[in-house]
Amino acid sequence: MKRIMTLAFSLLMFCQARSQNPLFIPDTLSGTNFSLNLYDTSHVFYPGFTTRTFGVNAAYLGPTLIMQKGDSVNIEVHNMLMDTTTIHWHGMHVNPHNDGGPHVYIPPGTTWNPKFTVRDHASTFWYHPHLHMMTNLHATLGAAGMIIVRDSAESALNLPRSYGIDDFPIVIQSKAFDMAKQIVVGDAYDSVMMVNGTFDPYLNVPAQVVRLRLLNASTERVYNIGIQNNMPFSLIGSDGGLLDTPLSMTRLMIAPGERFEILLNFDGMTGSNVDLMSYASELPNAIYGAIQPGMVPGQVITGYTSNPLNGADFRLMKFQVTTPSSNPVTSVPLTLITNTPWPTGSATNTRTLVFSPVNPGPTAIQGPFYIDNTLFDMNVINQQIPLDAIETWTLSNQSPIAHPFHIHDVQFYILNINGTPTPAHLSGRKDVVLVPAMQSVTFITKFETFCDDMMPYMYHCHMLSHEDDGMMGQFLVNCPTTEINSNEKDDFFISFPNPSSGIIQIQNKSGYDLRSMIITDQNGKVLIESNPQATHTNHGHVQTIEQNHRIDLSEFSNGIYYLKLFTDKTSYVKKIIILK
Ligand code: C2O
Ligand code: CU
Repeated sequence: MKRIMTLAFSLLMFCQARSQNPLFIPDTLSGTNFSLNLYDTSHVFYPGFTTRTFGVNAAYLGPTLIMQKGDSVNIEVHNMLMDTTTIHWHGMHVNPHNDGGPHVYIPPGTTWNPKFTVRDHASTFWYHPHLHMMTNLHATLGAAGMIIVRDSAESALNLPRSYGIDDFPIVIQSKAFDMAKQIVVGDAYDSVMMVNGTFDPYLNVPAQVVRLRLLNASTERVYNIGIQNNMPFSLIGSDGGLLDTPLSMTRLMIAPGERFEILLNFDGMTGSNVDLMSYASELPNAIYGAIQPGMVPGQVITGYTSNPLNGADFRLMKFQVTTPSSNPVTSVPLTLITNTPWPTGSATNTRTLVFSPVNPGPTAIQGPFYIDNTLFDMNVINQQIPLDAIETWTLSNQSPIAHPFHIHDVQFYILNINGTPTPAHLSGRKDVVLVPAMQSVTFITKFETFCDDMMPYMYHCHMLSHEDDGMMGQFLVNCPTTEINSNEKDDFFISFPNPSSGIIQIQNKSGYDLRSMIITDQNGKVLIESNPQATHTNHGHVQTIEQNHRIDLSEFSNGIYYLKLFTDKTSYVKKIIILK
């Protein structure tokens, strides 16, 4: 009995000792010029152990970038790692060349310099590596950070927005460490929780309304956020922006890649301690983090059942309420902004993506998973979308585990989940949605502003192991083409008798770089493609093809063809008639 008491006592001491870690608040960078240095470095998570990490301007995680909507930002990403990587601005609406997907390599020792206008609504975004098959490793080692976008609509509201005072980044991650306290990347052993890279943290918060920017930056784990004693909180924003009105909640599921902004009202609570929890015991089955990861008991993930976080209620962090700050926000606004989803009837196209396990049977939920019966291939474009198309997409999950689907370039509005109307907390702008096992989700979105006939955007499962295993596809937003006539335009001089027997001479006088060209038949089928791998193989530098070309189409049968020329700025199309 005495031994049990001693054990219980020392466990208690251990727990108390571990809760003495102040929450790390990443530095901020703001303005219009951002410099990020990716380091292969180390950090002491466990006293006496040095853990290898990837950091951005720091040993673990990176600074919070604060951007203003409408600003033109210039970002330098210096890759000081020994590995090639990429950096993706998750959730932001940028040109595909600036998006940092798997094609936009940053080789070791080089700098990537995207420049773009911030077009997003005020919200919480994040940046992380996106190199195909390496995303999980690079992100898990720590090369990620938060982005806060501000705009005038948000600034006009009486919301907490003093970073580190009443507005806090909350980057939630589960991790696996081996015996030597090195981070391991593998399925199901992520048994240690951290917030902002801090184990069992506490945060001193003022006794007033406080804003938390929740980001689930975990590899696979879904959390069921709640506050101790069911204290209600107000949800004010989802991935891509504020909601119309705050929503009082006591539970909020957050899947990998998702962000939610919540307000907690600590007014009058000076001196109290309040825990931020994940009530994972309440998660429905067939979600990674629930007691049962599949739909039925026999579906297994190796190592899952022995992981103490699965199906358990656990503390993410503790708030210690202190005295209010000056000019505190003391109440939650009644209304926020006005979202204007695209009307369902405005969609001109619908697509369905089907998720299914590669291996049927009891280990199906371990992956890999197909999207439309295929695994990701860097050289295959899975969808082509005309610029400015409004589309509805149905994500049909025909696998026995939930997947958080993420799409680049756009924010979407969820129309229904398995036929039932979208719950209020998911009615705002989203770029990630958890698609429940054997159910479907339909969303509407518009592919606007950016087109590029060569450089794709990604969509994928944001469980990083699933993504790396190939649960990803890519889409082009195609540019409208300008029909040119060499008599009227001197950008390109195309000499041939038209109709011709098939010998065509092209001379580039446009002042732009000719990057590729294709010849299609009248139905758009590509017959000839110059240098088709150009943008995909050359480590982010788009190859330039010969600026002047002689094409021999004399083998083609009589008919109408289209010659499309793509430069770094625009594209051209010319009708060719072959008549021999
Ligand atoms: Cu957060 Cu394609 O990624
Ligand atoms: Cu998945």
